[in-house]
Amino acid sequence: MRLSYPLLLCLAGFASAQKVKVEELYARYCTGCHGANFEGGQGGSLVDGNWKHGSSDDEIFTSIAKGNLQMGMTPWEGVLSIDQIRSLVIFLREKEKQTLAAGMDFPVPSPDKVTKTELHDYRIETVVEKGLAKPWAIAFLPDGRRLVTEKAGGLRFIGADGKIDPEAIEGTPPVIDHGQGGLMEVALHPDHRKNGWIYLGFSDGTREKKADGKEDVRCITAVARGRIKDHRWTDQQWIYRPEPEFRSGAGVHFGTRFVFDKGYVYFVIGERGGMMEAQDLKRPNGKIFRLHDDGRIPADNPFVNSPGAIPGIWSYGHRNPQGLTMDPRDGLLYSTEHGPRGGDELNLILPGRNYGWPVITYGMNYDGTPMVGITAKEGMEQPLVYWVPSIAACGLDFLSGTRFPKWRNDLFAGGLAQQEVRRIRIVDRKVVSQEIVLKNIGRVRDVACGPDGLLYVILNDPDRIVRLVPAGG
Ligand code: HEC
Repeated sequence: MRLSYPLLLCLAGFASAQKVKVEELYARYCTGCHGANFEGGQGGSLVDGNWKHGSSDDEIFTSIAKGNLQMGMTPWEGVLSIDQIRSLVIFLREKEKQTLAAGMDFPVPSPDKVTKTELHDYRIETVVEKGLAKPWAIAFLPDGRRLVTEKAGGLRFIGADGKIDPEAIEGTPPVIDHGQGGLMEVALHPDHRKNGWIYLGFSDGTREKKADGKEDVRCITAVARGRIKDHRWTDQQWIYRPEPEFRSGAGVHFGTRFVFDKGYVYFVIGERGGMMEAQDLKRPNGKIFRLHDDGRIPADNPFVNSPGAIPGIWSYGHRNPQGLTMDPRDGLLYSTEHGPRGGDELNLILPGRNYGWPVITYGMNYDGTPMVGITAKEGMEQPLVYWVPSIAACGLDFLSGTRFPKWRNDLFAGGLAQQEVRRIRIVDRKVVSQEIVLKNIGRVRDVACGPDGLLYVILNDPDRIVRLVPAGG
């Protein structure tokens, strides 16, 4: 069933993409029968979660395209383009989700309240209540303390008791706090106990005042490692610092996130708004990288012998992945990435593969105009799942340890916009189930399994850190 829809769209990809916003389409062609607020009239409600003719994107697409003349629903194919019908499907999904979410009872972080989910009941414990400014990522030190990054550039210790060290680590690399970029990822080398290495991912570049008083910002994601001695960042080494020519003034899509495995480090650089540049192997943006953990290029990387290609590239055609993690069972690499409006993806990352952005996507433009007509193409990978509407995927980790035995080896994905954490079960490289386990307590910036086997969630607006603990445990 999943197949017919992309294939159909692929064939019809050249259909005219009229630049009419989806809101206008709905207002012009649908309100008369389905209501200005989607509540229904002559036709049924489109937001109550009940779909008479099937609830998959594929089926809703067919409902709109083929209609049902006997029952009074116009067939819209021919009147509307394939792209327009597809954007209507996304639009209705968004509205349905907003409406359903508004009427739901979601857990609020109170120590005494138990939240029930399919497999485990949990309580929310607050780790850090206030005092952090836009926390971005967390790393767990062997002595029980944690390191937390703040977007504007602060790297801070948080005690095992949750106390924030008021002094940020001195001498950390200067970051360009610009749009979505700043100090982002922090992670410990797997042998941190022996070698002390700490890795940082951040927006690196220049910020200059021009003669006319305006600022000229040029930046791109870079990765460095260093050690902390006497509260100072020392011994810094660049792991990957793109050439200055690749810096841009765009404030979007920086990526980051690290995974370590067998002496390698994997990390992400978002496409920085450069869209087609994600397809260009001569450019670092829109790529996932694999390097030796000291920054050397692995001799067996997929593009080491391709003339002009950046040799650290592991996979390409990415928009803005901000979740990257490895399955502890089989060492497979997974990533979540922000799509445009509708079309966030979970991908299995394999070397040398092209993940298709911006040639194929399941999303539409933020302003509601159709984007591209195709969702599949030969030589480009399909996501394991895509999310319509977007969850704004951010943060991804497998849960290990013994505290949540029925969640063990499940994947947990954060969503900024939908303010949610999803539990995703993967069997044999396929997603077999998904469940929202946490909702509506803030924008989820990162999820991380702690060494204690608990699930840590970094939240923005309000800025704080919580963790899920088993109820009664
Ligand atoms: C002339 C009235 C009319 C207009 C205009 C109309 N619809 Fe419908 N629509 C209906 C009716 C009636 C049904 C129920 C048909 C049935 O029972 O099979 C329906 C069913 C649907 C369904 C299937 C719902 C389900 O439960 O499976 C979808 C989706 C839908 N309409 C979307 C749209 C969209 C999008 C537009 C605008 C492009 C639109 N409709 C315009 C009357 C209308």
